[in-house]
Amino acid sequence: MTNITQASTAPSMVRGHDAVRTYDPEVIDSHTLQTLMTAAVGAQNVAYPQPLQFVVIQDRGVLKSLSDRAKAMLVAQSSALGLSLDHLSSFVQPDFNIFYDAGTLLVICARNRSNFALADCWLAEENLVLAAQSIGLGTCAIGLAISVLNLPEVKQELGIAKELAPVAPIIIGKPRRVTPYRVKSALRPVGRSAWTVRRRAGVPWTLPERRANPEGTHPN
Ligand SMILES: Cc1cc2nc3c(=O)[nH]c(=O)nc-3n(C[C@H](O)[C@H](O)[C@H](O)COP(=O)(O)O)c2cc1C
Repeated sequence: MTNITQASTAPSMVRGHDAVRTYDPEVIDSHTLQTLMTAAVGAQNVAYPQPLQFVVIQDRGVLKSLSDRAKAMLVAQSSALGLSLDHLSSFVQPDFNIFYDAGTLLVICARNRSNFALADCWLAEENLVLAAQSIGLGTCAIGLAISVLNLPEVKQELGIAKELAPVAPIIIGKPRRVTPYRVKSALRPVGRSAWTVRRRAGVPWTLPERRANPEGTHPN
């Protein structure tokens, strides 16, 4: 039987993922994108899988416009979300791009908003993330883009069919620097066969320190 220590040091073991927030300007070619989408659809899924649909946006003007609209929506929704404008100050800076200047945004869309369809999208997203990492690419899920991508007029602009639900937006690109894997959780035995995992707390991109970390490093 493999114990936890052996598993965590096995050379081919996927150890986790690090969000990348600084990219080289080049865009991902279509062959690589197809490889990543193939990995995404190979993810585990619900027994009656609904087809996923991928939307790829590589036009920087469109990405900037989506980012600007997403920031405006965030401010408009701030009180409903319980966020103070102080809390949002780093997001609303004119030079802050929610896509971190990555040249490729891929959005995984579902046919409906059922729990299963949403799970399929996020499982596909995780497969894509790990596949990208395995070929030296960086990724970051961009939850901040979900609301704007679901606006009817934005769907129309992007050619997303009315019946599709944009669920999982993810930026992909060549990292500007190597992102070393950081140990971010500690496993602690709490009984004969029970473990507790303490994960690193906080969401780094909501902290003002982000601006003091132009290389995209985590503040902690
Ligand atoms: C559903 C989801 C939405 C996210 N949205 C954002 C986002 O809008 N902006 C961002 O910078 N990171 C976003 N992230 C990335 C998380 O902040 C990141 O995974 C977290 O900081 C942990 O870092 P790690 O991926 O390096 O472990 C999102 C992650 C998930 C799973």
